Amino acid sequence: MEIEYEVQIRKATEADLRDIVRLWKGNIRTINTSSDIADLYHSFERYFFVVTMADKVIGFVGGAIRRGHGHISGLAVDKGYRMEEIGKRLLKIVDHEFRASGFDKVTLEVRKSNWGAIRFYKKQGYKRAYLIKGYYADGEDAIVYEKKI
Ligand SMILES: CC(C)(COP(=O)(O)OP(=O)(O)OC[C@H]1O[C@@H](n2cnc3c(N)ncnc32)[C@H](O)[C@@H]1OP(=O)(O)O)[C@@H](O)C(=O)NCCC(=O)NCCS
Repeated sequence: MEIEYEVQIRKATEADLRDIVRLWKGNIRTINTSSDIADLYHSFERYFFVVTMADKVIGFVGGAIRRGHGHISGLAVDKGYRMEEIGKRLLKIVDHEFRASGFDKVTLEVRKSNWGAIRFYKKQGYKRAYLIKGYYADGEDAIVYEKKI
């Protein structure tokens, strides 16, 4: 008999931090250390959500407040669970939280070479705003995307 587990999205808790760090470092090319990620979580925990399946954390979104608007600091879905609308649901739930806080705009940075994520964000209504030359530690440019919510 095959057991079908339900995918659930909920607010992240302190106990999820290890999984968030694992997913962040394992899926996003970043120089953020575990302690940078923990600091972000502690500053902006209202905007952190995880997706679980059978109690295993398979995705997360980490939002923040940046210059008076919402910002996506990190978003990742485990490789085996992509293209199942999980990323889309994570963005939706954090947008809802940003709106509830009174923000009307969300921004994010993405590596110029990260075509998959760029396609994904465009499909979620993000528009290219501007480029930041050499934004990443390895010299790659970032493209800033934004969306009115
Ligand atoms: C980007 C990411 C979070 C998308 O998550 P996901 O759960 O696979 O995305 P979804 O299934 O919700 O996709 C929503 C839409 O985007 C599209 N999409 C998602 N990933 C895509 C890709 N790599 N290439 C093209 N389109 C893509 C889907 O086809 C879907 O389109 P539809 O609405 O027309 O059906 C996931 O690929 C990921 O974790 N990537 C690695 C980490 C990363 O790059 N994060 C972003 C930088 S911080």
